Amino acid sequence: MFLKMMNAKKTLELGVFTGYSLLSTALALPADGKITAIDPDKEAYEFGLPFFQKAGVEHKIDFFHSDAFTVLNDLISSGKEEGSFDFAFVDADKQNYLKYHELLMKLVKVGGILAYDNTLWFGTVAEPEEMMKESYLREGRNDVIELNNYLAADPRVELALVSIGDGLTLCRRLY
Ligand SMILES: C[S@@+](CC[C@H](N)C(=O)[O-])C[C@H]1O[C@@H](n2cnc3c(N)ncnc32)[C@H](O)[C@@H]1O
Repeated sequence: MFLKMMNAKKTLELGVFTGYSLLSTALALPADGKITAIDPDKEAYEFGLPFFQKAGVEHKIDFFHSDAFTVLNDLISSGKEEGSFDFAFVDADKQNYLKYHELLMKLVKVGGILAYDNTLWFGTVAEPEEMMKESYLREGRNDVIELNNYLAADPRVELALVSIGDGLTLCRRLY
């Protein structure tokens, strides 16, 4: 619904896995919409592929079997893609989100949206570090706190941290 309200037509997705969010995005885009979807896990994407086909949205998806950093850099180097995307959804390797943010700020148009998933990190971003018993939670928490602090202070975006699921940060590119 959100993508429809935005009239989004051209989007990016970093971190596809079996494609739950990819399918939701594909269903929300118009028939001539396009999603550049990136994940180094091709097997997981192929698991979801029959569902994209059954839903009649496969033609909207350009899947890149790669890490996101390489594809984003290639898109920028092509000289044709800067400022051309309406929306980017980031749900990949948390430790690289700040690097992705700089590249996405070139690729997403002014007025477009960059969405970062899991920005509440199971609620742990609001808890003291000594309460973190699980090491995977502790590591991810530091990355997410660093991202949240950076985005909150980034004058190039207007931000809303939406408390659905595990937290979704929407950044609207201002310039
Ligand atoms: C949480 S899953 C994505 C789930 C998906 N967005 C959904 O909602 O259904 C995270 C995915 O990020 C992918 N990933 C990890 N490192 C990546 C990278 N450097 N570039 C792109 N994707 C990456 C993993 O392979 C994994 O499939």
